Amino acid sequence: MRTLVNPPATLPQANEPCWCGSGRKYKRCHKRSEGRVLPGEVSPMRPVPDDIARPPYADTGQVVPWDESRVKSPEVIERMRHAGKVAAEILRLAGEAVRPGLTTDELDEYVHALYIERGAYPSPLNYHGYPKSVCTSVNEVICHGIPDSRALQDGDIVNLDVTGYIGGVHGDTNATFLVGDVDPASRDLVRVAEECMWHGIEAVRPGRPLSDIGAAIEQHARQHRYGVVRAFIGHGIGEQFHTDIQVFHYYDSRASTIMRPGMTFTIEPMITIGSWQHKMWDDEWTAVTSDGKRTAQYEHTILVTDDGHEVLTGGAGAVSPSPPWDR
Ligand code: MF3
Ligand code: CO
Ligand code: CO
Repeated sequence: MRTLVNPPATLPQANEPCWCGSGRKYKRCHKRSEGRVLPGEVSPMRPVPDDIARPPYADTGQVVPWDESRVKSPEVIERMRHAGKVAAEILRLAGEAVRPGLTTDELDEYVHALYIERGAYPSPLNYHGYPKSVCTSVNEVICHGIPDSRALQDGDIVNLDVTGYIGGVHGDTNATFLVGDVDPASRDLVRVAEECMWHGIEAVRPGRPLSDIGAAIEQHARQHRYGVVRAFIGHGIGEQFHTDIQVFHYYDSRASTIMRPGMTFTIEPMITIGSWQHKMWDDEWTAVTSDGKRTAQYEHTILVTDDGHEVLTGGAGAVSPSPPWDR
């Protein structure tokens, strides 16, 4: 643990000694973290009542993959529609709770209760040991931010990533929310990130390779001079949170798998103002942009249909129900 000291009202010049008393130059010390998201305290894991069905990793934190058909049966698809709807509703309610002053841990507490009220297990909880029920990624945090004691500040942007396990399947969706009064550059980033997701979704059609999705996303990001994160990708989903299908958010000729009706996967582009490269916090979860500039993400769970796609976490009541250009 680390004691956080508040900076003084008047900050030193870059080459002067840091205000914290470390003896190092200010530019080599606290100047580096100015305006950056700092880690807070993480509260103990929240329990889930025994009557809620748990995925296999819930007790051990170990994820042991098994073979799962890429093409789902109509019966599994029906269950995934329900899981998708539940996740979408939780995401919308969570987003409506976002306000300056609320800590991300308080958000986690609220979201945790929303899953339980609906009979869903919060998929992130103990997934590879992840300690919370939702991911909260603020400003330069690309993804997998862990809810903690940091209060949301006026002007922040925060991505909430909700995944629920209900009926033996997962539904995975996320969106980026504005905290109070947000600067125009960040608002543009958030808007374009949502558009990128929808361009990716609209590229989903049977008979076409998965690489069409990344190509569509990358082209739109490029038009706006934004970066596309490469280290984190979309994934197959179903009875398992993450299956072997890989959905790149940039063009990659290796994504040659042909989309077939009944396939289910996520599309979840992370778009950056500056560098698309990341650094990892010591917690081994929180991924931040290497330059500290902001990033935004949107995610839906998608089903490939006979003539295109169905958005399992979209539709009425979703944060991003349909492409903005159709609304
Ligand atoms: N929901 C995230 C995704 O979109 C995964 C979160 S994994 C966790 O794939 F362990 F951080 F929860
Ligand atoms: Co996902
Ligand atoms: Co997600």
